[in-house]
Amino acid sequence: MNRDAIEDLLARMTLAEKLGQMTMSPAGGAKTGPVRGEATTEAIRAGEVGSLLNIWGKAATEGFQKLAVEETRLGLPLFFGVDVLHGHDTVFPIPIAEASAFDPDLWEKTARAAAAEAAADGADLTFAPMLDTARDPRWGRMAEGFGEDPLVGMRFAAAKVRGFQGGDLSSPAAIAATAKHFVGGGAALAGREYAAADMSDRTLHETYLPPFRVAIESGCAAVMAAFNSVAGVPMTANVPLLRGYLREKLGFDGVIMSDYAAIEELIDHGVAADRVEAAALALKAGVDIDMVSGVYLSALPEAISRGIADMRDIDAAVRRILALKMKLGLFDDPFRRIRATKPLPAIDLALEAARGAVTLLTNDGILPFADTVRRIAVVGPLADAKAEMVGPWTLAADPQQCASILEGLRAALPDCDIGFAPGVFIDGQDVGGIIEAQALCEAADLVILCVGEAANMSGEAASRANPGLPGRQQQLAEAVLASGRPVVAVLFSGRPLMVPFLAEKARALVAAWFLGAGAGRAVAEVLAGRVDPAGRLPVTWPRAVGQIPIHFSERPASRPLESDDPFTSKYIDTSNDPLFPFGHGLSYAKVRLDGLQLDRNEFKSGERIRVTVRAENLSSRPAVETVFLFSRDRVASFAPQVLELKDWAKVELAPGETATVAFTLDAEDLACLDAALTPRLEPGDFDILVGLSADRRSLLSARLRCRA
Ligand code: GLC
Repeated sequence: MNRDAIEDLLARMTLAEKLGQMTMSPAGGAKTGPVRGEATTEAIRAGEVGSLLNIWGKAATEGFQKLAVEETRLGLPLFFGVDVLHGHDTVFPIPIAEASAFDPDLWEKTARAAAAEAAADGADLTFAPMLDTARDPRWGRMAEGFGEDPLVGMRFAAAKVRGFQGGDLSSPAAIAATAKHFVGGGAALAGREYAAADMSDRTLHETYLPPFRVAIESGCAAVMAAFNSVAGVPMTANVPLLRGYLREKLGFDGVIMSDYAAIEELIDHGVAADRVEAAALALKAGVDIDMVSGVYLSALPEAISRGIADMRDIDAAVRRILALKMKLGLFDDPFRRIRATKPLPAIDLALEAARGAVTLLTNDGILPFADTVRRIAVVGPLADAKAEMVGPWTLAADPQQCASILEGLRAALPDCDIGFAPGVFIDGQDVGGIIEAQALCEAADLVILCVGEAANMSGEAASRANPGLPGRQQQLAEAVLASGRPVVAVLFSGRPLMVPFLAEKARALVAAWFLGAGAGRAVAEVLAGRVDPAGRLPVTWPRAVGQIPIHFSERPASRPLESDDPFTSKYIDTSNDPLFPFGHGLSYAKVRLDGLQLDRNEFKSGERIRVTVRAENLSSRPAVETVFLFSRDRVASFAPQVLELKDWAKVELAPGETATVAFTLDAEDLACLDAALTPRLEPGDFDILVGLSADRRSLLSARLRCRA
């Protein structure tokens, strides 16, 4: 099958068959939105369906594919799209947890493993990676992405596209990636799912678009338009951003699909009076595939007759869909993935990823706990909760693959007496179990308190106005802390939880997110000191909901809080500081940075700046540290962000070892966006900063002048 053959096919297709190719329908399988009917065998046989979503498994997919290729007039193969966000059979840490590893090789490896598993279940495309920059923990979908920083997002995007698609999209172990949700959902009003986003073009181009640009530069096969509107234009009908930016500016010639029923939801957005107008608007914006709503099939013929839809746009959409199926090898062999051999579960990789995501937030030295500890009380509703360890968005996975924290601890510490009491449920008001839990604590040498969210309290349609401990878990935590025994608190969540009291009162606080198959073992190994906690926060962790949105790269206030003058940008009831800054995470070792050096003190366009810093391991333990490189433009045409992430490097140090960490900055890496939102290097002074987090007070800094 080649481009000429596609043209030949197009010429033979009826309007209904063309609109069928533009229709993606559910067909049983996972429900990921309001149910609006499913593809029937009659519809598939009539050529009215081009792809199916969230149906997997050899038998199911083979049956549908046979129907399409053997019983339709033209025998056009379907493609199967499945949400493979952090694993298919084998569950990896949720993306926000995996981002904590700051390890693009790992990000690529888990995507590749997931692709092979999903492909062997019949998936040809995944609705991933999720590339929404997220700075609002009220928004449940923070769990699904890379966090708050666009540079992390760009590297995450490239790694995931490489991992899912590999070097040959027709390979039976490769699946097409879909960069989603284009764009701006992370800035939804008040962190509420599906709500409108409103931001400047400058912020859009600085913060939200870059991960999508890199995904497309990396060859991503598809893009999914977001549910939300941006500056009053719903993304599903957004001509400037879909046609103008994706197609014309970036030259994206892959498939653009709507999100679930989003084309019909243009009516709810108030920009379409009916399904006909909704279909016409989406087509005009360049949306090729209608996921679930069915309005392309049912309403575009009338839109054509009303003169508000153009047959050329339909043909262009069908060409892109057929080209995708060609790249996937589906014309040569529609069953190539369905009949592929299922790989063995990637349990070792899942454990590696889980180990890299465990993040130690506070530690007064209680961790790693001493060998003398014999009686451990494991308390809380997340302690023995396998099913929660998978986190949101695991469609095919069996939670039984996840060892619970209790199981992980008992396996790691067979000589310890490890008691368990849930105390309370994850949610709900029953406090009847607190007394038993407190009694267990009082008899223990150490308490491990496992609290947080259920897996379904983050992800889609899971915004929380009070993202703290749900139910009566805070009461349990207070009772456990009142026992007077040393308490290590382990948090499970899809977002930062507002728990300043735990940071203050527990002897140590660990972010364990949702770590998937490796959860129990990875957490136990870190608490026992067999693995050094290497996770570093990919998001700023607020102290209070009132600080949200909070992130390290804000623009300066007119009166920054740099003095105790009352007339400065601050709260009168809490600190401006987050509970934990971006990049924060402790290790059991102690690494000191010093000796920041630049190989020049001025530069001009086209030149490179070499930045070096010394990292010394002051401890008797091996250290793995993540060193961050930031910049700050001191004066620019537009108010420059107070800190911009430019690179990071992981460094491993033996006990007592000192190493030099080196970065290379291209001059153009320090460009800002001019009035036309085009990168431009401006003359003037820059700070180059290095540190172990985005806490500006802890950064080493050197001045550099641009002579542009
Ligand atoms: C959902 C989500 C999207 C997902 C799609 C298919 O509504 O917004 O992320 O890929 O539908 O399940």
